Amino acid sequence: MNLSRRLFPALLASLCCTISWAGSHSNGGTVLVIGATGETGKLVVARLVDEGYTVKAFVRDAVKGRKTLGKKVSLVTGDVTIPATIEPAFNGIDYVISAVGATAASGNNRPEKVDYEGVKHLADAAAAAGVKHFVLVSSMGVTHEDHQLNRFFGKVLIWKAQGEQALRDSGVPYTIVRPGGLINEPGGNLRVVAIQGDPLMDNARIPRADVAQVCIEALKSPAAQNKTLEVFTEEGESVSDWNGFFAALEPDGT
Ligand SMILES: NC(=O)c1ccc[n+]([C@@H]2O[C@H](COP(=O)([O-])OP(=O)(O)OC[C@H]3O[C@@H](n4cnc5c(N)ncnc54)[C@H](OP(=O)(O)O)[C@@H]3O)[C@@H](O)[C@H]2O)c1
Repeated sequence: MNLSRRLFPALLASLCCTISWAGSHSNGGTVLVIGATGETGKLVVARLVDEGYTVKAFVRDAVKGRKTLGKKVSLVTGDVTIPATIEPAFNGIDYVISAVGATAASGNNRPEKVDYEGVKHLADAAAAAGVKHFVLVSSMGVTHEDHQLNRFFGKVLIWKAQGEQALRDSGVPYTIVRPGGLINEPGGNLRVVAIQGDPLMDNARIPRADVAQVCIEALKSPAAQNKTLEVFTEEGESVSDWNGFFAALEPDGT
């Protein structure tokens, strides 16, 4: 969990303007990536660009966004805790991938404000904009209220669970991806395993690059819609049939 506190200019955060449009046209559609400057979000952006999607990156700090993401994506500045900065970002958006996460245990950017209220604002905006599919990176353990992370980091898992539910309730087709512990290793070298039911798995790990791939494969697979899955990696061959990967899972509410 990234515990660092990052300040950003209030004026910039209160504006929501497209900084530049450098995205390429593709058949894949336009994807709004939230948390695009984060460790997972930047891998999502890079992979989407490689696959020919048009990417709009939602960032708090345009300078950081350009430095982190390069010139191949357009940037839109905003803050998920400020609804007025969200709605304009959804113009022309087909898909959303959110890897946003609170950066502080308390204060204005605590989990309640980001992982619950912020995600709810995003889900509401996605519904209003008619988004076709919203992929949310959540976390393993969100159904365990006594999980130690809730004590150490502003009840983060409890608020993430409520953010998940806001997305389910929005009516937008969704996939909720709950990774185990995130690691910065190359992706594609291990088998990605998906399970459901949120069992406690303290040793489950997954490279952020594999999480990024799961999110993008979910956009392409109708079988991923309206499902919640926990993901981790283990020794074995990487997944080749992503539609089968998602089709093996139960939809929520069944
Ligand atoms: N760390 C783990 O082991 C672990 C395990 C399971 C799940 N997760 C979850 O997986 C997701 C990705 O994790 P990560 O470690 O890759 O993320 P990260 O590096 O901490 O990035 C978080 C991103 O969220 C953005 N953000 C924070 N507050 C925001 C706000 N108010 N408005 C707009 N953007 C905001 C940050 O922007 P700035 O760059 O401006 O700060 C950053 O781009 C998170 O939801 C995390 O909770 C993490």
